[in-house]
Amino acid sequence: MVTVNQQRVPRKRTYLMCSPEHFAVEYAINPWMDVTTPVDADLAVKQWDRLRETLVGLGHEVHLLAPEAGLPDMVFAANGAFVVDGTVYGARFKHEQRTAEAAAHRAFYESQGWRFIAPSETNEGEGDLAYLPEAHGGLVLAGHGFRTELAAHAEAQEALARPVVSLRLVDPRFYHLDVALASIDDANIAYYPGAFSVASQRVLAQLFPDAVLADDADALAFGLNLVSDGRNVVLNSEASRLAGKLRAAGYQPVPVELTELKKGGGSVKCCIAELRH
Ligand code: ARG
Repeated sequence: MVTVNQQRVPRKRTYLMCSPEHFAVEYAINPWMDVTTPVDADLAVKQWDRLRETLVGLGHEVHLLAPEAGLPDMVFAANGAFVVDGTVYGARFKHEQRTAEAAAHRAFYESQGWRFIAPSETNEGEGDLAYLPEAHGGLVLAGHGFRTELAAHAEAQEALARPVVSLRLVDPRFYHLDVALASIDDANIAYYPGAFSVASQRVLAQLFPDAVLADDADALAFGLNLVSDGRNVVLNSEASRLAGKLRAAGYQPVPVELTELKKGGGSVKCCIAELRH
């Protein structure tokens, strides 16, 4: 059991982000997107900048991917790949509107000399793949049901040589794993049970008995779409109850406002890919 006084220790991270200069809601590929809702592009860039500054202020390193015109969802950098122990498992997007983003990510990793493994199966990177380095010796959690295909989970396991646990997402509002579940440190997670099949809920309860559980309101406020360094948990400011639960478990919530990007169906985590050496 975690006590209120427990000192959580942050670990320095390296992230990849992409500015929302070209962000817009021009098509609707998830239930949050409505092409008739106006987006304030300048505000989107300001809010995103504050998120980037927050991460840098916490001592993390942030690499930038150049945004490309015609790819309005490119700001959601988490979807471009999944990196574990220096190996990059590339993304292959489900919707053709985002297909070209994969090549931009691949070029970034190859220019930096990372070991890159091209996928044959549909998968949306960290949107559906999470890594817990200290859970059961290093565990990948993988979502399927809306975007990433089950076959990609097996492909990721072969690419990364880590056990991959498949979890079935059942609620279209939680179309990616990372809007329903997040690692809060190297061995523990926070999640919203209602996003998962009953069987997958049991799997999560078995593997993570000490997980922090979010309620409907916090999950719908994108509270779980968070990024944690093991101590500081950067999360959407609307998820206030979840912030309280995290504080009670010894973490330091760091709220940020991302109202514009929410119109694309994403928040903090969607904007951030972690580069794990
Ligand atoms: N509009 C984007 C899509 O539907 C949002 C992606 C959010 N990214 C994420 N990692 N959940 O693909």
